[in-house]
Amino acid sequence: MFVGIIDQDAESANRFMTASISLNTGAQLPSVGFGFWKVDRPLAADVAEQAIQIGYRHLDCACDYENESEVGQGIKKALSDGLCKREDLWVTSKLWNTYHKAEHVRQACEKSLNDLGLKQLDLYLIHFPIAQKYVPFDLRYPPGWFVDPAAETPRMEEDRVPISETWQAMEDLVDSGLVRHIGICNFGTSLLRDLLSYARIRPSVLQVESHPFLVQAKLLRYCQQEQIAFTAFSPLGAASYYSLGMASQSESLLDNPIIQCIGMEKAKSAAQVLLRWGVQRGTSVIPKTSTLDRMAENLNIFDFELSQSDMDAISGLDRGRRFNDPGVFCESAFNTFCPIYE
Ligand SMILES: NC(=O)c1ccc[n+]([C@@H]2O[C@H](COP(=O)([O-])OP(=O)(O)OC[C@H]3O[C@@H](n4cnc5c(N)ncnc54)[C@H](OP(=O)(O)O)[C@@H]3O)[C@@H](O)[C@H]2O)c1
Repeated sequence: MFVGIIDQDAESANRFMTASISLNTGAQLPSVGFGFWKVDRPLAADVAEQAIQIGYRHLDCACDYENESEVGQGIKKALSDGLCKREDLWVTSKLWNTYHKAEHVRQACEKSLNDLGLKQLDLYLIHFPIAQKYVPFDLRYPPGWFVDPAAETPRMEEDRVPISETWQAMEDLVDSGLVRHIGICNFGTSLLRDLLSYARIRPSVLQVESHPFLVQAKLLRYCQQEQIAFTAFSPLGAASYYSLGMASQSESLLDNPIIQCIGMEKAKSAAQVLLRWGVQRGTSVIPKTSTLDRMAENLNIFDFELSQSDMDAISGLDRGRRFNDPGVFCESAFNTFCPIYE
């Protein structure tokens, strides 16, 4: 089975729990995951448990989301209540930018494992191709973007660490059994090609922003060619970015007339159309919500199909709009110009 092909077990009573993407190791990555960025810490344990109860089997976490120990409590409760077995859950975490040096990678991974209450991660991703100055764990955790938030003008500070050094330390994590798969986020094709030139263990997954305003057709095609699964973050588009001042309501995909019209024809919500488009084009999607109804809605996308003309109309909305761009937000929010895609 090739990467990007959806496996659906029609026999299963709960079909959406079995839709998955085959990775280059043969492992199955559930096509719809649950994203934990901006899930408030006091809610995160309940949200994690509810997500598992509703049927999510793929949880997308990160050190930087400031809620891994709460997510870990939710996972622990779900497992002890018998909602699923550990081996049925796919848990991803991410290496933060301050830990790119080889000597920090294992410590960072062990901290995430400890917080999540797990012995092994299913996937560990390099969060950004950006190395920041190291912040000791006991000084501040998670360290975020500023090297010193108490400074008069706090700013993010870059460090010079080759990605090859970080990657070799990520490979060591696989060797030592702490993680099953490794991958990257926010890489373009040039960085990926370079990584593939020396990787002893190939990346299993690339996680990048993707939605109909940022289709990333060439990047997806390159990943499929190289058998790297493609996970789309912010699959609902602008929705996640209004509160951060990084998108305007006029850029809403949920209110887009083409998406809404297709949704009306299929008796599905705009969110379900967007997520179905993502899954049907061979990507996995990891929507976030703190609302119970939306959790179920976002998972319930396997009882309808989009026609080729629907798929084409949605892909035709592409305008190369990236909401999550370090080349913009690092300067406006963290006082350092740090472009990565140009
Ligand atoms: N690797 C990276 O660099 C990176 C970057 C960004 C995100 N991510 C991952 O990707 C996940 C998803 O991305 P995201 O959180 O940016 O965006 P998203 O999941 O596309 O959108 C989340 C927003 O949409 C709203 N929403 C969710 N379901 C909805 C529905 N059915 N109808 C209407 N509105 C709905 C949510 O509000 P409510 O919560 O109020 O429902 C929230 O404001 C993150 O949580 C994180 O795990 C990774």
